[in-house]
Amino acid sequence: MSAPDNIFPMHDQLVTRQERESLASQRAHAYWMCGLSGSGKSTIAKRVERRLFADGHRVIVLDGDNIRSGINSNLGFSTEDRAENIRRVAEVSKLFISAGFIVIVSFISPTQEIRDLARDIIGSDDFSEIYVHATFETCASRDVKGLYAKAIAGEIKNFTGLDSPFDIPSSPLITLDTENQSVDQCAAELTAVIKSTSITR
Ligand code: ADX
Repeated sequence: MSAPDNIFPMHDQLVTRQERESLASQRAHAYWMCGLSGSGKSTIAKRVERRLFADGHRVIVLDGDNIRSGINSNLGFSTEDRAENIRRVAEVSKLFISAGFIVIVSFISPTQEIRDLARDIIGSDDFSEIYVHATFETCASRDVKGLYAKAIAGEIKNFTGLDSPFDIPSSPLITLDTENQSVDQCAAELTAVIKSTSITR
């Protein structure tokens, strides 16, 4: 998107992204995890963050807990609000990437259109889609937050997988299958992928 009238983005950075990246021996990148509520995205994301941080990397998790309770607290779950949610998350990710960070993004981001919007904002060189797979039935049986019971009882509208769509990604970088693998196995798998693509030492 171009800048609004009378706004002049500054491009003459005195500290470059490359300098920031080399300080932590990494390449900045957004690993964009999508999947149903309760599929395990944030749990895996936080474990991967811990592992990379322990190795001295600059890494941050962006998920519903820290974004929807703050910067996006005015947004709900209509199609328009989800698109705005993801647009802002993509813009925040882009800022962290310019600061040299590995960004692990954990949002349902339910449609291909919404994920393509994120890819367009961030830039395809800096963006990889990760699909966290668990079926609706599995997520409903886990029901960690009690939301599936409410949604099935008709108390929550536009619930993903019930009366709001989820498009399975057609070509993710990897699929993490939390139905058949433990959270630890999935976290190890994602950590290995990030190390092979973003760690430079
Ligand atoms: S997204 O669709 O806009 O990407 P996001 O990942 O931010 O969704 O938020 C999903 C979280 O919000 C879920 O894990 C769940 O805890 C909660 N939630 C509340 N209402 C809904 C709903 N209608 N559909 C899905 N998740 C919901």
